[in-house]
Amino acid sequence: MSNINLFSVDQARKKAKLRLPKVVFDYIDGAADDEVTMNLNTRAFDDIMLNPKMAQGKFDCDLSTSVLGQELALPVILAPCGLVRVMHPDGAIGVAKAAINMQTISVLSTVAGNPLSEVAETGSHNLWFQLYSSRGRQEVESLLQEIHKNRVSVLVVTVDTPALGNRLRDIYNGVSTPLRVTASNAVQLGYQVLSKPKWSYNMLNDGLKLMKKSKPSGSDSSKNMLNMAASPFSWEDIKWIRSQWRGKLVIKGILNASDAKMCVDCGADAIVISNHGGRQLEGVSPTIKVLSEVVSEVGDQTEVILDSGIRRGTHVIKAIALGAKAVMIGRPYLYGLAANGQMGVENILRIFQSELIRDMTLLGCRSIKDLDKSFLV
Ligand SMILES: Cc1cc2nc3c(=O)[nH]c(=O)nc-3n(C[C@H](O)[C@H](O)[C@H](O)COP(=O)(O)O)c2cc1C
Repeated sequence: MSNINLFSVDQARKKAKLRLPKVVFDYIDGAADDEVTMNLNTRAFDDIMLNPKMAQGKFDCDLSTSVLGQELALPVILAPCGLVRVMHPDGAIGVAKAAINMQTISVLSTVAGNPLSEVAETGSHNLWFQLYSSRGRQEVESLLQEIHKNRVSVLVVTVDTPALGNRLRDIYNGVSTPLRVTASNAVQLGYQVLSKPKWSYNMLNDGLKLMKKSKPSGSDSSKNMLNMAASPFSWEDIKWIRSQWRGKLVIKGILNASDAKMCVDCGADAIVISNHGGRQLEGVSPTIKVLSEVVSEVGDQTEVILDSGIRRGTHVIKAIALGAKAVMIGRPYLYGLAANGQMGVENILRIFQSELIRDMTLLGCRSIKDLDKSFLV
């Protein structure tokens, strides 16, 4: 691991762009259609103004919070993301270790590329598991058993992927199913890969390690790595999953009050307001714009988490002041991972931590738990 110090998410993004073959960078950085929703996600935070309270004296900011009964040192969770192993050989294990070191949570995607059993070895208390399934209840049953066996107690079911979003950058790069190499795209991809020798060397080494291990592993979720097929859950499926799963249940991908109410009726312990970072349906609202509506409908019955577009400490503050318990970040930590592996992910969490401390001090707010609408104009 090289010693890079990153000072902002944007700087990490630039570093990731330098390090990754175009096809991998675009897979992270891109979104659906014209990428309007993705860009609006971040821009929409600019419409909300902070209202600082002056002369609050000297104090140490408390960034800690609790989510689903778990204590976090800062209200920023690492969102589930597919194919992280292709971004850096530290992969989901590095992401999970970064979350542990920074006392927060990482959510392992079904299609992360690292087996759940290996990631859970780092410490299952800070790990949640995100479920995709395209092959029905039998597949879900075996995944639930695997999750339980690995002592992971929080299940996140993503409901915004009945089809895959139209990710044009992937298509232009010749990978209609993300990152799959075929005869027709091999030359284009080969050129991109060879132009990034350090990444290619890392991937080769990682591939050799994988081949040496090569132990068959039953229902292991890593088998889904390249199966990026859609996950067409219905509310009936969610109720059924609730009946099968004894741990905490989180539903991810909610964008309005009536679906949030459905989640509560299905027994969800928390919901994630998310538009998948603009990667699914183009033209939906930026998530911060629907937060208040959802919180007034279900905020007293379930915990509300928000993701999509969070790039700054002030974005976290605005979301929490409007009623979110915590936020998730996706691309920011993926840029960090690509730039510098596990250390890069920790670096990104530290950026959020230090921005939050500075912003909360300037805002005159001592604790994340004290944030409310009085801190907004
Ligand atoms: C490269 C990439 C892969 C993703 N893979 C998944 C996934 O496997 N499961 C899932 O629920 N969400 C996935 N997401 C969505 C994230 O969990 C999260 O909702 C989104 O990244 C938040 O937006 P942000 O990137 O603007 O922070 C992915 C996002 C990215 C950027």
